Amino acid sequence: MSDEKQSMDLFGDMHPYNKLFQVFTKLPEKGMDEEEILKELGYMSEEENKKWQGGQCSGTMYHGGMEHYAFLNKVFNMFSYSSLIQRDLCPSGTKFEAEALAMVGKMLHGDEVSKVNRFDEEAGAVTSGGTESIFNAMFAYREWGREQKGITAPEVVAPMTIHPAHLKAAHILGMKVVRVPVNADFEADVEAMRLHITPNTVALAGSAGTYPHGVVDPISKLSDLALEHKLGLHVDGCLGGFILPWIEKLGYDVAVFDFRLPGVTSISCDTHKYGYALKGTSTINFRSKELRRYIYFAQEDFPGGVYASPTLQGSRSTGLSAAMWAAMVSMGETGYLKAARAIMDTADKMRLGIARIPALRIMGKSTFLISLTSDVVNPYFVNDYLEKQGWRMNGCQNPPGFHFCITLPQTRPGIAERFVKDLADGVKFAKDPPYEVPRTGFLYGLGASSDGREMLRQGLKGYVDASYEYE
Ligand SMILES: Cc1ncc(COP(=O)(O)O)c(C=O)c1O
Repeated sequence: MSDEKQSMDLFGDMHPYNKLFQVFTKLPEKGMDEEEILKELGYMSEEENKKWQGGQCSGTMYHGGMEHYAFLNKVFNMFSYSSLIQRDLCPSGTKFEAEALAMVGKMLHGDEVSKVNRFDEEAGAVTSGGTESIFNAMFAYREWGREQKGITAPEVVAPMTIHPAHLKAAHILGMKVVRVPVNADFEADVEAMRLHITPNTVALAGSAGTYPHGVVDPISKLSDLALEHKLGLHVDGCLGGFILPWIEKLGYDVAVFDFRLPGVTSISCDTHKYGYALKGTSTINFRSKELRRYIYFAQEDFPGGVYASPTLQGSRSTGLSAAMWAAMVSMGETGYLKAARAIMDTADKMRLGIARIPALRIMGKSTFLISLTSDVVNPYFVNDYLEKQGWRMNGCQNPPGFHFCITLPQTRPGIAERFVKDLADGVKFAKDPPYEVPRTGFLYGLGASSDGREMLRQGLKGYVDASYEYE
């Protein structure tokens, strides 16, 4: 089998590895041998690690150190089977989460909220990931709007670059996200957002930094606007929330986006990204316990006992929270600073190299993420070339381009230089590509699956496409 065919079969089908291992479509009659299972999984894991361990993959693997993962897995192992909903059985889980939330809260200057209003006390919850943290923020604003202002058709005004998790939450919660075009620097246009505030608006939203371009929206101005109209303001710090504070401490010019701003009422921040925890945890922090109250659900009359839980989840593993806590206390401030330093050194080196490739343009004010477009060549052809060299970027659209979210695997010697060289060669390739339609796309989510390809082929027909409602 050709290399290209082999990789398509392994990674492009709904039954990857079907040529190598048995495909189960029902439970095996007799349990499979554990050694055999471990052998198969070991093969898959090694194959897939090869795709990012060389430092060529944007985002996704934020730490990348196998020793770090082994340590976190050891921690996970101790609590993997314990359920956090039974808090009396596993008080350690309460400790892990309370302390992790306090550490994130302090990093985001949550201790300063009482300086603005002495009754405020910053408080948060642990969720399963960025999408769920954002869901909880949206849910809180919906409930707050209904209770405090009698709003029954709640709207959130946000820049076009806001992460789709906000639209997904709005879709589920019966809310509307009013998306407003961004300015030439790909940052929220606050004056344009002002024009979209209506009596139904419950909150504004902005990012630190945005997924497409990594820029920090002008949160300070959004904070003023939120205060002026007595609205909530959610800051999506899922991507940047755990690295921008350290980049700021290193002396880079980072716009303030956190609880130091009096109008910021919630921040989502992903421990499973630049917090270097295992996949499956994130935090949502609110300016006040009053606001957090809206994400608690309780049922008094359940025959199984009074039920109460925050967030979307019920039973969940204490192991993930233990590993999140362990990632934070093992890294410590010096660890996070050192990681941010290495990432920024790499990103700065790449930016210097990119400046010598006139056909390419960096979109927006870039820090840990570099988003590229071109006014000269089709950037998707550049990405085609990069992909052939083993790089894995994230394709963007409107305008066309791709981004490279720099993580620790890229900080090893020689990666930045190789990237710049391949980019320059990619531009040459894109000037006269040997085929007409670029092969790399800009599908984020179901990429490389047959479902994803089918969705694109049908133009999203028959699928939920939140964008249609708000244009
Ligand atoms: C800015 C931003 N917000 C939200 C999310 C969603 O996070 P998750 O994929 O953990 O649900 C991401 C993911 O990359 C992101 O970059």
